[in-house]
Amino acid sequence: VPEEFDTDVLIVGLGPMGATTALALATYGIKVHAISRQNWLADTPRAHITNLRAAEVLRSLGIEEEIKQQATPWEWMGDTLFTTSLMGPEIARMRTWGTGDDRSGDYLRASPSSMVDIPQTLVEPILVNAAARRGAVISFNTEYRSSVQDADGVTVTLANRLTGVVYTQRVRYLVGADGAKSRVMQDAGLSVEGELARAGTVYAQFKGELGQYVAHRPSILNWIVNTDAAVGEIGLGLLRAVSPWDEWIAGWGFDITKGDPDLTHETAIARIRAYVGDPDFEPEIVSVGPWYVNEAYAPTYSAGRIFCGGDATHRHPPSSGLGSNTCIQDAFNLAWKLAYVIDGVAAPALLDSYTDERAPVGRQIVERANQSRRDYAPIREALAADQTGGASGLEKLREPTPAGARARRALEKAIELKNQEFNAQGTEMNQRYTSAAVIPDEDAVEEVWLRDRGLYVQPTTRPGAKIPHAWLVGKDGRRVSTLDIVGEGALTLITGLTGGAWAAAAARLDHPRLRVIVIGEPGVEDLYFEWQRSREVEEDGAVLVRPDGVVAWRSFVGATDADEASTKLEDVLAHVL
Ligand code: FDA
Repeated sequence: VPEEFDTDVLIVGLGPMGATTALALATYGIKVHAISRQNWLADTPRAHITNLRAAEVLRSLGIEEEIKQQATPWEWMGDTLFTTSLMGPEIARMRTWGTGDDRSGDYLRASPSSMVDIPQTLVEPILVNAAARRGAVISFNTEYRSSVQDADGVTVTLANRLTGVVYTQRVRYLVGADGAKSRVMQDAGLSVEGELARAGTVYAQFKGELGQYVAHRPSILNWIVNTDAAVGEIGLGLLRAVSPWDEWIAGWGFDITKGDPDLTHETAIARIRAYVGDPDFEPEIVSVGPWYVNEAYAPTYSAGRIFCGGDATHRHPPSSGLGSNTCIQDAFNLAWKLAYVIDGVAAPALLDSYTDERAPVGRQIVERANQSRRDYAPIREALAADQTGGASGLEKLREPTPAGARARRALEKAIELKNQEFNAQGTEMNQRYTSAAVIPDEDAVEEVWLRDRGLYVQPTTRPGAKIPHAWLVGKDGRRVSTLDIVGEGALTLITGLTGGAWAAAAARLDHPRLRVIVIGEPGVEDLYFEWQRSREVEEDGAVLVRPDGVVAWRSFVGATDADEASTKLEDVLAHVL
């Protein structure tokens, strides 16, 4: 770092966005200082679903195994219940998070990683630990106060909350990962559009062994249908496992037009007992607090040398489990670009592609998460009492009559719609970037979605998409994913045994960040032909993959010789970087 600067990048926030950015930058060898005004990391479980794409990012950053060791495994995430209580009659079950017999193959095929469930109380220490081990400087009890930027850097005012000392740091770039009430966004003049606090939910965190009711039908989410819970937009109570099966969250909606919700432990205990179905159950309450449903996103994520991401830029409810997953992916997108610009291997204009690529994703997930809440309405309707004053909704569902059959059909349809929340592999993986850091195919035609875009992954090497996962065979005979041969801060040019011209050209260019992988050579043999089936280019073609696993450019065919390939590659690198 030149003397003028205290560090290259200052990150405000150590949530999933800040901690992942710190980890990735430290991994790429960038000097980074990450701060939080708190004394430690997340103190409540918060986001917990870790989707396939986020798991792939954590894999690429080398901490997937650590995460898996502490997470609830995929197989246990599965049978989402709709029930009157854990002990009471069940109304419906849904196979979720791809664990169903009809979907598990899709999830296994799409990724070398698996979905897991892990709360932020466990994820954040893993991220921050790894970042610090790799050289990131971490400061707790340190508050961001303000910042002023000029052409060369940003001067940031910080306060040590223990000593009261206020001081400044001079940095090249500032990252605002300071969550939904982002001060950095405000100071940078970045706006968030949409509606804040449009509905409210209370979460009560508690301890208590419930394994006897759930271990035989494992699920991290149980929806409780009872009159007490029939409030708010979802209108169902929630029992969500934090740690199987003795740490939980109970959730219920409240009417925000009636002021603050009741947060007393007595009320929480009464509800938990009703949800469990056992009037003698003794939960140990850890905390009770409200949170509010937001539907807001930022159209622009950066201003000059200040870059924001995570909840600072997209604010939405937990439905669909897109919260920390999206933060982790924002971070992975931003970090390599900052690293390349700081290292002088890319022009500062590369950083413009951060907003171009991530802002549309932010908007999409905000809309998706809110829609997932609205999509509970048909379930509530299917469970509603008969308007003629006859059977209650639940009785109707058990009736051996045409009305009963209609009710069962309506409930099945209503639950099917929830696949867009609970089996939405496409929403999680089908992101397509359009920016200056991606070169579309010549004469590109619009992508045709062969199946529902939200539900199913469509693997492709189209520029702007993530490289498809294909199993290769490594030197020791073990399987290696195509995702494992890219990343590590490098641009990876993938070609085949007949693509020698590309390999020769890359060697001649000797670019500090470019490496070549020739599929078919020892260590990366395509013995299952999975890459051959998914690469979409000829064997002598080429696919250039960015450090974040996104395809930057591809050539369907081979180059005639190394000269032609060099000229082409030089153009491509100049364009992307
Ligand atoms: P995050 O809010 O996690 O972190 C912000 C960081 O900035 C913190 O380290 C904070 O200390 C720091 N900071 C803020 N201002 C600062 C300042 N001025 N100076 C220094 N540091 C500052 N999502 C989901 O998908 N499923 C769920 O079930 C839930 N549940 C849930 C419950 C509760 C109680 C909360 C609060 C949130 C959720 N969420 C959630 C949302 C999820 O937690 C959220 O998407 C991510 O934590 C966002 O991560 P970020 O890193 O963007 O910000």
